[in-house]
Amino acid sequence: NKGNYEHYMQKEIHEQPESLKTTMRGRLIRGDSSKSKTVLLGGLKDHLKTIRRSRRIVFIGCGTSYNAALAARPILEELSGMPVTMEIASDLLDRQGPIYREDTSVFVSQSGETADTLHALEYALENGALCVGITNTVGSAIARNTHCGVHINAGCEIGVASTKAYTSQIVVMAMLALAIGGDTISSESRREAIIDSLFDLPNKVREVLKLDQEMKDIAQLLIAEQSLLVFGRGYNYATALEGALKVKEVALMHSEGILAGEMKHGPLALVDETLPIVVIATRDACFSKQQSVIQQLHARKGRLIVMCSKGDAASVCVGGSCRVIEVPQVEDCLQPVINIVPLQLLAYHLTVLRGYNVDQPRNLAKSVTTQ
Ligand code: UD1
Ligand code: M6R
Repeated sequence: NKGNYEHYMQKEIHEQPESLKTTMRGRLIRGDSSKSKTVLLGGLKDHLKTIRRSRRIVFIGCGTSYNAALAARPILEELSGMPVTMEIASDLLDRQGPIYREDTSVFVSQSGETADTLHALEYALENGALCVGITNTVGSAIARNTHCGVHINAGCEIGVASTKAYTSQIVVMAMLALAIGGDTISSESRREAIIDSLFDLPNKVREVLKLDQEMKDIAQLLIAEQSLLVFGRGYNYATALEGALKVKEVALMHSEGILAGEMKHGPLALVDETLPIVVIATRDACFSKQQSVIQQLHARKGRLIVMCSKGDAASVCVGGSCRVIEVPQVEDCLQPVINIVPLQLLAYHLTVLRGYNVDQPRNLAKSVTTQ
């Protein structure tokens, strides 16, 4: 049921304040003066000790689910102090890459039925690793075959392009980081700041959804383009990859997410006055580096659309003019949840304006059950 919406993708994008609330329901504990704020993931509480004792955490997934894990990786590294590595499921299998008994392998999948991820799970089980699932589908193959896990509870997702599952996956993995790091005194204030920001996140997503018309206007400008680059780094490298994936998947336009730190190692050659480029430059520890990236893109007359934190519009475009998207600021590690929303809206409007099928893009299936 699409309700008042024209398409499922549109409905699912606008549902995110509610789906995020459901994801967090019963799992965030506010605490009082005597007890600190914490998270409780029922499916993991008996396994946290084993996870903390493991040698590393390996995230395994495909497509959007991989991108969600990539977005959560920095906060997991920070709060757990453990090495966190990333595997695209098919690539892990192609390489028969090393997975050990001492590993915690985390399988991220909206459907819980993706063949590549499921085969990687079988492989990790054979190798004796602890296998944790993060899925949206109770009773799915990945939920059943993992040792433990977390249901993201985002509600059924029908559009082939994953939107609300992505933001809920990031939130669950941020809560996973909080749970693993839960016994460390030194990071207590950091954890509390993240929990406060999680409580407020649905409101901030509601705020960023107000950019709908603005993103439609930008889509109108891009309607006839052949290609769109998206530059991000740090917490928002994943946002660049996921924004580009949405654009190519539904709007059928070539799009590439680029790690801004790699700009000078190749991508800079593409920059001219015609190719549109989205630069994600919201406030975090990488902000000044992104400002200098903007400056260098301006020097090559790049056609820029810059995403920045509210209030930064006047100052962010150093060395030239650009179109600006201002988004609300949240705790740095949760900013990817906010920043993807305008790009989801952009992909959605671009698709509708270009006249393509937004809920069922050609050649794609919602759940990829073949290898
Ligand atoms: C569970 C109940 C929820 C109830 C809550 C009350 C289910 C599905 N969930 O939620 O309805 O409101 O207790 O305390 O009945 N698991 C895996 N692999 C996965 C995902 C989950 O093994 O990929 C396992 C978990 O380890 C856990 C069980 O499935 O044993 C349920 O997980 P989850 O729904 O996340 O647990 P709760 O949030 O505690
Ligand atoms: O169900 P899964 O999360 O395992 O699916 C993984 C990918 O097939 C999926 O995310 C795909 O990339 C989406 N269509 C992206 O929107």
